[in-house]
Amino acid sequence: ELQPVILSGGSGTRLWPLSREQYPKQLLALVGNETMLQATAGRLAGFAGRLPVASAPVVVCNEEYRFVTAEQLRSAGRGSNNIVLEPAGRNTAPALTLAALAVADTDPVMLVMPADHVIADLAGFQAAIDAGIPAALEGAIVTFGIVPDRAETGYGYIRCGADRADGSKAIAAFVEKPDAATAQRYLDSGDYLWNSGLFMVRASTWLKAIDSLQPAMAAACVDAWKAGARDADFVRVAKDAFGACPSDSIDYAVMEKLAAAEGLGIAGCVVPMSAGWSDVGAWDALWQIADKDGNGNVARGDVLFEDSRDTLVYAQDRLVACVGLEGAVIVETPDAVLVASKDKTQNVKQIVAALKASK
Ligand code: GDD
Ligand code: MG
Repeated sequence: ELQPVILSGGSGTRLWPLSREQYPKQLLALVGNETMLQATAGRLAGFAGRLPVASAPVVVCNEEYRFVTAEQLRSAGRGSNNIVLEPAGRNTAPALTLAALAVADTDPVMLVMPADHVIADLAGFQAAIDAGIPAALEGAIVTFGIVPDRAETGYGYIRCGADRADGSKAIAAFVEKPDAATAQRYLDSGDYLWNSGLFMVRASTWLKAIDSLQPAMAAACVDAWKAGARDADFVRVAKDAFGACPSDSIDYAVMEKLAAAEGLGIAGCVVPMSAGWSDVGAWDALWQIADKDGNGNVARGDVLFEDSRDTLVYAQDRLVACVGLEGAVIVETPDAVLVASKDKTQNVKQIVAALKASK
């Protein structure tokens, strides 16, 4: 079986003021009518590949968002009876370990999906997923690679190695979030793909990898899982045990270390994916993928443009009128308004940090 696993724990600080601690970006409808969580849950609809898709996703999220998460999934027709609740985030490696423990008895191939991506071409997405299944069944950890178009430092970079018999490519090197000079070198070389953040791996393979590469993390997750309790569709893991778990991402904790761990016998491999993938990390990325008018403007809500270009406006509560603007981002909410230059929207996270510090 192909078991969708949705990691829904981030907060998306660069999309402030729409994303908040109380309302992280995956729970917002930033593109189209569905929230990003709902769109993620629907991404395998109609999948007719090498494996049947499990009837419900496993979702790992913070305890605080359990009701809105369950409700969004239910109203999208993708209700889950396996929502694993973290008392506090420990990043993606522990989150995936909890998901693997939740399905360990049937040992499915897990398709691990971040809840906060946009994928425009579902057929392209499903074709890449299907192409990765043989490698995952063989016991590899499968990544999905995107052809890079800029020296982005917020992503992982994968150097492709030899072709494998299962149709994927070996990972010759995995480098998470390189510095700007290194990212530029990787881009210029043409030898690297971005890591999309999607992974495909059997539950048993992941548990073996984490046990061997991050034993303290594995032990804390097992303890937290064993001492946890089921409550209808929710599984609440034990707070103290999970609190003691080291915090790290799949990329740093496992993918970067896999190549050196030859004795482990777990290969990393990559399947190229061409599917209109976007990480929607910040407002400029949202402008990039949104439908624009003839002047390159994007409007949500009550917005008027006069002599303005390449500007994105989200108006929640009030009419927003723009005159003579170029390359601006304006996000209006009842209690906060962001006005930013579109090429600086990565720095919105500094505002969030300053706000937190002043509290
Ligand atoms: N349940 C849970 N718990 N989910 C989490 C947690 C957590 O503690 N932390 C993050 N997540 C979820 C986020 O909501 C997101 O959907 C996904 O896991 C990835 O986490 P990010 O924090 O967004 O990772 P990233 O963007 O810095 O990097 C990853 O994605 C890039 C592509 O978007 C890496 O895999 C990179 O290599 C990759 O290029
Ligand atoms: Mg991300």
